[in-house]
Amino acid sequence: MDPLLVEYLICPCCKQGSFELSVEETFYPDGDPANRAQVAWGTLVCSQCGQTFPIIEGIPRLLTSEMLSEYDGTASVFASTDKLPWAQPLSADKSKEVMRMLFIEGDPNVDGSRSVDPGSEEWVARLTEYWIDGCERSAQKYVRVLGDSGIERCNSILDIGGGGGGTAHVLGQALRAEIVVVLDLELRYLRMAKTRSPVIQAVQSNATCLPFKSKAFSLVVSFGLMEHVPWRPFLQELARVTGKTAYLVYGPNRMFPYDGHLHAPLVTWMPRPVALKFAYLWNQLLGIGWYSRDTLARISDTLHYVARYQVERTLTEVNLQHANVFEKFIEATITSDYHLDPTTDFMLRLVDNKGIRKMVITALMVLGCEPLCHFLCWPTESQNAHHG
Ligand SMILES: C[S@@+](CC[C@H](N)C(=O)[O-])C[C@H]1O[C@@H](n2cnc3c(N)ncnc32)[C@H](O)[C@@H]1O
Ligand SMILES: [Zn+2]
Repeated sequence: MDPLLVEYLICPCCKQGSFELSVEETFYPDGDPANRAQVAWGTLVCSQCGQTFPIIEGIPRLLTSEMLSEYDGTASVFASTDKLPWAQPLSADKSKEVMRMLFIEGDPNVDGSRSVDPGSEEWVARLTEYWIDGCERSAQKYVRVLGDSGIERCNSILDIGGGGGGTAHVLGQALRAEIVVVLDLELRYLRMAKTRSPVIQAVQSNATCLPFKSKAFSLVVSFGLMEHVPWRPFLQELARVTGKTAYLVYGPNRMFPYDGHLHAPLVTWMPRPVALKFAYLWNQLLGIGWYSRDTLARISDTLHYVARYQVERTLTEVNLQHANVFEKFIEATITSDYHLDPTTDFMLRLVDNKGIRKMVITALMVLGCEPLCHFLCWPTESQNAHHG
């Protein structure tokens, strides 16, 4: 952890106190003493409520103790902790080794659906595709959308639910950021994020209670997270920490008749118990049999289908002006994006005629049913004035 990060933090418990940092052990990124020393082990103590949070292997863990144990994710790697090269950037081969270590019990984001032998080459390839190559491809498109809107440089970037850090890594480089923070609940993703680049600051905390000062970051991004968290408190927090710009992507849009999490059509329009039964039957019927009933129920537990108009209304309530940049995103890509489910992906590949594409996208947007929602947001003038 870069000691400078402390300037950005507030205590997630009382939401008032800043932190006093005490350092037990430091390291130099890339092992080069010319770089600023980073904190490997230490503690953060709240100046207001006295709550103490540990910094472990360079990751400040800003959760209550109950949450810490729930989202530990260290059980299988504790024994091999000293083998985790958390302080250096990695070669591709080394990354694979780290993935094997971190995800020995599987990764619900990637292989909850099909049975692949954990540890096998195919399994590692899938993890790599999702968390490294997939994320980086998407990030390049986000960079284009941002560039299109005149955002070419950002001092400080926060990626909420940033997982393995692939997106943050690309954004940080493209926008020449001085500080890039990845916040996630799951420790194993954060450990991966730290292996991506020594510039990345990994913070373990909860998206609905962000441990950052108001307006702390010039750019705040969140991709593929909002559908998994209580979304109104999340948007409130997103608005609070955004200094200049936020880029929010979630999916599926409730109005779009397919959900890639449950791998089934029409479930976005059904009451949840019906949707679960239907998704199970659908998966069986197609002979994919990807999910057991239990797995479906677990996935669905934290899944929210939110319509674009609901988000637009809430963004206004939390004082974020917003622009729908879905079309910009599609035009920045036109190739497959791993956030898109297979149906949408297939549809887009069919529509590679620019005229037809324009018509389809316009129709989807007028009807409010584009599959993914993409928003660029910025604090409203009145709020800027209010906060000076
Ligand atoms: C579907 S992944 C998206 C990852 C990445 N942003 C991307 O675009 O591929 C959702 C991420 O959100 C994280 N997450 C889920 N609930 C969270 C919460 N309450 N607070 C912070 N992160 C959370 C998960 O651990 C996971 O890394
Ligand atoms: Zn406090």
